[in-house]
Amino acid sequence: MRIVRILSLAAALGAVALAPAIAEEEISYPKQKWSFDGPFGTFDRAAAQRGSQVFNAVCSNCHSLKQAYYRDLKGIGLENEAITAIAAGFNVPTVADDGSNAERPARPSDHFRSPFANEKAARSANGGALPPDLSVIVKARDGGADYIYALLTGYGEAPSSMKMGDGMNYNKAFTGNQIGMPRPLNDGQVEYADGTKATTEQMAKDVVTFLSYIANPEMEARKRLGVKLVLFLVLMTGVTYAVKRKVWADVDH
Ligand code: HEC
Repeated sequence: MRIVRILSLAAALGAVALAPAIAEEEISYPKQKWSFDGPFGTFDRAAAQRGSQVFNAVCSNCHSLKQAYYRDLKGIGLENEAITAIAAGFNVPTVADDGSNAERPARPSDHFRSPFANEKAARSANGGALPPDLSVIVKARDGGADYIYALLTGYGEAPSSMKMGDGMNYNKAFTGNQIGMPRPLNDGQVEYADGTKATTEQMAKDVVTFLSYIANPEMEARKRLGVKLVLFLVLMTGVTYAVKRKVWADVDH
């Protein structure tokens, strides 16, 4: 059947058209399997929730997440009460009635709490290195999620031939293999509510899933739209072909 061939050609063309939009960045780190890979991928809600727990318990002590609000946790399936409780666990700056600087517990409508008042405070607490804001870090680094995973699991003993800088830590994924961030994840560092075993690799995978959601909160909607668009194009190809056959039916070839 010609129509079948034409439809499958249209589908193939559609897939090609969709591919660049969702292709990951250049890959130079071991490729992990992510739930959000591919044109139908979604964020694994349980993993992203565990990842938010890791972020709040560990990473948020040094890293800000300036573009995200606590209410964004709704997008990974957390209930309002849980979000309110998480936010209330952090203090954010406010101004007291007498005009002096004060603090109050955060609300779901607040941005994630920034751990340091400014860049100088952040650097002086981290031996001169600046912990970058993690809002879009997954998009900002070559290798994306695979790189951040490799970084978080890439700590180890420096080879004896390597001269380590003061306060620097060996990491095989970081450029130059020396990083100012001390190893943030160690087995059993958090206790997961769902009983998942908190190995370094598991926590790394979970927190990267969470940070990928924070960097791309609209990803699932975008993919759904892409799939609908391809279906629509396939359908329209069929309709156009059928109309062409009808119009030209009485014309001798
Ligand atoms: C004790 C403070 C501290 C904690 C806790 C911490 N970091 Fe960092 N992080 C830093 C510092 C400092 C840097 C900058 C390092 C440098 O430039 O040498 C950094 C850099 C990074 C980078 C950027 C690496 C690059 O390619 O430039 C990422 C990604 C990152 N941290 C993720 C995390 C995640 C995820 C967590 C939680 C699991 C975490 N960090 C916990 C201090 C911390």
